[in-house]
Amino acid sequence: MTDPATLDSLAARAESEIARAVSPEALDALRVTFLGRKSDLQAALKGISALPAGDRKDAGARLNLIKQRIEAAVGSRGAALAAGVGGPGADVTFPGRAVRSGTRHPLPATIEDICGIFGRMGFERAEGPEVETEYNNFDALNTPADHPARDMQDTFYVRPGLLLRTQTSAIWARVMARRDPPLRIVCPGRTFRRDAADSTHSPVFHQVEGLWIDEACSFSDLRGVLTAFFAEFFGREMKVRFEPRYFPFTEPSTEVSIECTSCGGKGCPACARSGWLEVLGAGMVHPNILAKAGRGYAKPGVRGFAFGMGPERLAMLKHRITDMRWLYDNDLRALGQVRG
Ligand code: DAH
Repeated sequence: MTDPATLDSLAARAESEIARAVSPEALDALRVTFLGRKSDLQAALKGISALPAGDRKDAGARLNLIKQRIEAAVGSRGAALAAGVGGPGADVTFPGRAVRSGTRHPLPATIEDICGIFGRMGFERAEGPEVETEYNNFDALNTPADHPARDMQDTFYVRPGLLLRTQTSAIWARVMARRDPPLRIVCPGRTFRRDAADSTHSPVFHQVEGLWIDEACSFSDLRGVLTAFFAEFFGREMKVRFEPRYFPFTEPSTEVSIECTSCGGKGCPACARSGWLEVLGAGMVHPNILAKAGRGYAKPGVRGFAFGMGPERLAMLKHRITDMRWLYDNDLRALGQVRG
């Protein structure tokens, strides 16, 4: 066992196996095999005492060299494994770990999508705070304290006069206070209402508001802008319907519907058999608001239109999501099925 050729082949075998150890555990097992108490090497070391006295010294020196070679191999493979380096023993045919690619959440993706489409039509982005003055959220929008429309937008008051905004229309007043027309803004943001959560409501939701004020802005411009928007958003021409509605800050006001995205207008359970889906409110900026803002807004001929939409609703229609809570649960198994 102590002859040089046998020892050399033992060391070579040990080195080759050690270099291919795939994990620290496998390496430790090899260390035990080649250096441990029951190893050939230990047996040979123990056998030295049985050798003729004259041979013991040389045999001991040879065995020690082999031991050092194996220890060095264990050390260098251990370092390589710790550094994550495959080393000469790496199995390049081993299947790799799949890389999971992330994707944007469908809700912010939809908001970006909407703002991008209006951005290409020349709308600038404007934002405002979530904690808003009662004035900007209601009074400036032609909705005084005794107005019945306030009931439909009950919200959370931080203190008297300060609330969590119920609509991103609240941003109008902020922008109008510091800029004269022409104005063309799109205002995304989070909004709040005292609503119980169900498949179509949430006390915290989002809106994207649009406002265009300029000389000779007309209702047909509003129709053109929204019709172009829906075609862009859904990737095809959509039938768009404008029905009269009431909003305090626009006159005339309209509720805008699109052809049902499930049945294409034939009538199905998703559209209550009407063929239409109501998707946003819009209208011509109320003259009271222009007069109150003064400056360039009060000039003869200056008019504006506005619209407000819920990106949750649009995301649900686009991705065929039937429960709004799905957008807030952040279950990756579900979200992974939607490419934003
Ligand atoms: N702010 C309204 C709401 O939250 C939506 C809306 C309706 C916005 C009509 C508008 C508009 O700009 O003209 O219900």
